[in-house]
Amino acid sequence: MRYLLHTYGCQMNVRDSEAVAACLEQAGHLPAINEADADLIIVNTCSVRGKAEEKALGKLGLLCAGKRETPLRRVGVMGCMAQRRGDSLFKKVPGLDFVVGTRRQAEIPGLIARLDSGERDIVLLDDSSAHPEVPSGHLAPQVASAFVSILLGCNRRCAYCVVPDVRGPEYSRPAQDILVEIQTLVASGVREITLLGQSVMNYGRSNPVWAGVQEASSPYREDFPRLLAAISTIPGLRRLRFTSGHPSGCTEELAAAMRDLPMVCPHIHLPVQSGSDRILALMRRGYTANQYLEAIACLRTAVPHLAVTTDVIVGFPTETDEDFELTRSFMDKAIFDNAFIFKYSPRPNTPAAAMRDDVPASEKQRRNQALLVDQDVRSQRLNDACIGQTIAVLVEGRSLRNARRWAGRSLSNKIVVFDPHPGLAVGDEIKVRITQTAPQTLYGEQTDALDQSVSQETHTEKV
Ligand code: SAH
Ligand code: SF4
Ligand code: F3S
Repeated sequence: MRYLLHTYGCQMNVRDSEAVAACLEQAGHLPAINEADADLIIVNTCSVRGKAEEKALGKLGLLCAGKRETPLRRVGVMGCMAQRRGDSLFKKVPGLDFVVGTRRQAEIPGLIARLDSGERDIVLLDDSSAHPEVPSGHLAPQVASAFVSILLGCNRRCAYCVVPDVRGPEYSRPAQDILVEIQTLVASGVREITLLGQSVMNYGRSNPVWAGVQEASSPYREDFPRLLAAISTIPGLRRLRFTSGHPSGCTEELAAAMRDLPMVCPHIHLPVQSGSDRILALMRRGYTANQYLEAIACLRTAVPHLAVTTDVIVGFPTETDEDFELTRSFMDKAIFDNAFIFKYSPRPNTPAAAMRDDVPASEKQRRNQALLVDQDVRSQRLNDACIGQTIAVLVEGRSLRNARRWAGRSLSNKIVVFDPHPGLAVGDEIKVRITQTAPQTLYGEQTDALDQSVSQETHTEKV
């Protein structure tokens, strides 16, 4: 069969879709060029906000309606919304062939075989009763950068969040599996790995992870810094990142690891959600605004040019203008390099859903817009400080907007668009002199390719 995957949601879903593609190809299926060419279309869904579900449902509706012309085509749904809504999706989306929740992706090829033998309406949901089988396959990627999940699920239960329900309890994958997966990716040309988890520094706290790993004596006692150190010994890997963080994981040991392991990039995504202690407590985030500032201060002391990015929710129930202004001034104090701003969306069965969603939509929109404008000004100011600097860039490919230019990422995870030298390849690490900036992008010219020794030094440079 020729398959096509549509992916919504976060990096976890991107990574899961890659794993499903790899499983399908191992079972003899081939990628389709486009929808018209596909015999099997799977929509990988997100549930985090109401809008995310609406988008996926809209897409599934169109695809299933299209089956009138292509009756042999199979359409399935996977991911977080599939897990949350389960078999009710067959009613909601007539014509749907299957529903696969989280942690069961590896079973999709078997499920396709069952459909072929005449079974209908197949549902596979995670019940978290067994250890999840995580397919470690990726397609042989012609890419510079890849995601690797290290921690599944979440135990934190922030008041607004559906993720613990749909992704299940926290489970740390064995370090051995992670190391082998990364070695395989590096062998196929990947130069940068981003480790994924909801609170990634909780790695190893939920279950033992070191079975089978022959570790040289590690300077770190905590499992997450130890994992960073173990991955750092993989030859050929150039950059190591992780997301998302939680302030409780910003320990002295993590700071030391980020300072001492040259491969670990000077960037952390650390969602704050609000700058008001009252709202943070209602959200059950487990820290105050000051504790958050202490967490980033600890990391910045060790890594002076650390870039910090964040997520913020505006319009959480009972959020007053005063709470909002606290968030606003907090963002000035924290000096975020970038921020993703979300309007609060009540999610079924979460504690916050029992509160009245009392901030009017127009007010959520106003607060959202105000933070975006502030952040643009802040990002532009931080980026302008890079003009004239020569920075290390990992080449990702041609720029989407202008195919004569190429794009890559700085160590701090900023997008860098540049005029390339001839012979440039995806995965090269080069130097770019920054000449121009926008809030979300740095622009410049390629100078020399970096050799290994130079690139190690530039990890201590800004950006
Ligand atoms: N585990 C990560 C976040 C995962 S969800 C963490 O705790 O940092 C990604 C982002 O979506 C969150 O950081 C939050 O800002 C936003 N989000 C989650 N639930 C939401 C909701 N009900 N309404 C609006 N935004 C939400
Ligand atoms: Fe959701 Fe909180 Fe878990 Fe993040 S830490 S996934 S926001 S419950
Ligand atoms: Fe990610 Fe959305 Fe699921 S943010 S974990 S795909 S609910």
